[in-house]
Amino acid sequence: MQSILFKDAVIVTMNPNREIIRGNLLVAGDRIKSISKTNEEINCSQIKVINANGRVLIPGLVQAHIHLCQTLFRGLAEDLALLDWLKLYIWPLEGAHDPDSLYYSALVGIGELFRGGTTAVIDMGTVRHTDTLFAAIHESGIRAVCGKCMMDQIGNCPKYLLENTVDSIQESVDLLEKWHGRSNGLLHYAFTPRFAISCSEEMLLQVKDLAGKYKVRIHTHASENKMEVALIQQQRKMRNIMYFKHLDMINSNLILAHCIWLDSKEMEILQENRVNIVHCPSSNLKLGSGIASIPEMLARKIYVSLGSDGAPCNNTLDMFTEMRTAALIQKPLHGPAAMPALTAFELATLGGAKAMGLEKEIGSLEVGKKADLALIDLKNLHCTPNEGTEIYSQLIYQAKSSDVTLTMVDGKIVYENGLLTTIDEEDVIRKANTAIKRVYRKAEIIKNQG
Ligand code: GUN
Ligand code: FE
Repeated sequence: MQSILFKDAVIVTMNPNREIIRGNLLVAGDRIKSISKTNEEINCSQIKVINANGRVLIPGLVQAHIHLCQTLFRGLAEDLALLDWLKLYIWPLEGAHDPDSLYYSALVGIGELFRGGTTAVIDMGTVRHTDTLFAAIHESGIRAVCGKCMMDQIGNCPKYLLENTVDSIQESVDLLEKWHGRSNGLLHYAFTPRFAISCSEEMLLQVKDLAGKYKVRIHTHASENKMEVALIQQQRKMRNIMYFKHLDMINSNLILAHCIWLDSKEMEILQENRVNIVHCPSSNLKLGSGIASIPEMLARKIYVSLGSDGAPCNNTLDMFTEMRTAALIQKPLHGPAAMPALTAFELATLGGAKAMGLEKEIGSLEVGKKADLALIDLKNLHCTPNEGTEIYSQLIYQAKSSDVTLTMVDGKIVYENGLLTTIDEEDVIRKANTAIKRVYRKAEIIKNQG
């Protein structure tokens, strides 16, 4: 069992007292073994020592809503609203993925995440080849809740992505049985119906029962866009959250991305049932979707986490950008105190852990928890002066993902001083660039065929 000692770090624990400790953090195997003040004696034999020299150690950041399959579509679908963005570009491109292109799409995304201190994701998957997506996730060593994206609603899904309900369910269960709990428990399956528009009622009801049977999460999109909500109203004669409530799907096992267009009754339902909401502020701005009422959700003690969403609606997977945007976006609407820096940091750490159902294992730096963490160097020009100023405002308003010098997942270093340890970055970039040309050509063909 390898032990790694981070010496002389500023440890942003995110423990219940939100303590910040200048000292040492010892990792033994996959867990945090001790946290102590600098002046305490440590026996350094048989331990790899990393001298933090006053750099900042934070809990690994959690991307609670992402589409790794879309990383290769970055920059290919610009300045459109959700439904056109999906129909004209994203669905044809997803439909054109082959296992190889999906594999490199995932690794490009995960490499970017590791470089920016992200250690865990909740991923939306894609309709086909999700086994390859899991393989890439497994090889990279990231912690993940992931599932196969499900789309079976005739009339609302393009032919090239439309699935048969029975097959979609069966493939989901097969993937769950193969991957759930693997990689020392890093991998978790979640049923992933895309959104109410793309899913038959029959499938959603089966997903609800199976998620209960296997005790796994359900992850979907909800109430992101006004047209989406209007379409659900037209087809189901109910608002989006009311429809999920009608299907008895609303509970603390549900992860809902976005939740911008809610009425007060829907907000109450989310509050009463402790649903997990994922706020994706950059995506919501870029697709012109709207601004979610996050301060109200937090006041109601609804669980909120943070995500970049897919690369083509952002266009980065950078949690520092996301935290900063989450903090800034509320201020013109609700005043400068509406989303303090600490709150934004809580969403990206403890909030993400809660959404994954892993709050006992990750989200804070505490003895006994998993060693998911990032080391950040704030001693640079864009963070100066950084002594005597609040650490959370440094992290949210000043720091950049490029300030991360080390990322660790489950006790293993996945990124250190410019080098990814589980991903061959040059090779992945080259192969990703080749793959997207092929996928783009194929997407043009299937789009024209309808
Ligand atoms: N709603 C359904 N699918 C998607 C998607 O791929 N991205 C976003 N942002 N919203 C969605
Ligand atoms: Fe999304």
